[in-house]
Amino acid sequence: MSVKSKPAVLFVCLGNICRSPLAEAAFREEAERAGLDVTIDSAGTGDWHLGHAPDKRAQAVAKRHGVDISGYRARQVTPDDFRDFTHIVALDANNFADLRALAPADASAELSLLLDHVAGREGEAVADPYYGDDAGFDVTWADVTAGARGLLDRLKG
Ligand code: 4NP
Repeated sequence: MSVKSKPAVLFVCLGNICRSPLAEAAFREEAERAGLDVTIDSAGTGDWHLGHAPDKRAQAVAKRHGVDISGYRARQVTPDDFRDFTHIVALDANNFADLRALAPADASAELSLLLDHVAGREGEAVADPYYGDDAGFDVTWADVTAGARGLLDRLKG
C-alpha cells in the first residue's frame, strides 16, 4: 500500500484570495458530502496577500452557497507542498507553469489544471475575477464547483 493512501489536495491560484479559496471551499463541500477522507488546502504563487482573508466578493459568493470562508488566510506555495500533497491543482495555465518552475527535484505531487477534471473543458482556465465585477465571482463558483465534482469522482475512483 502506498504511504500516501490518504489523498491531500492543494488548490493554487495567484493571490490565494479569490479562486483557490473558492475551489478549496467547493471541494470541502463535495468531499464531505461524499464522505471522502482527504486533506484540503489552498495557496497562492504570489506573496501580495499573505495572511489576508479571502476577497469580500469571494466570501459573499461562498456564503450565498452556504459556506463560510471568512476564516481562511492566504499563504504562499512552499517546496514542502510538493512532497506533502498528493495532488496540486492549478486554477489557470500561468499558475500551472509557475508550479512547474517551483517544483523541487523530489516533488511527488501530481500537478493538474482544475478544469482538466471536467469532461469537455480540459485545458481551460478558471478566469481571474479579481479585477472584474461581482458577477465574475458567480462564474468562478460555477467553475470551481464543476472542477471539484470532477476531481472528487476521480479520487473516489
Ligand atoms: P486570485 O485573484 O489569484 O484568484 O486570488 C487575484 C488576487 C489578487 C491579485 C491577482 C489575482 N493581485 O494582483 O493582487
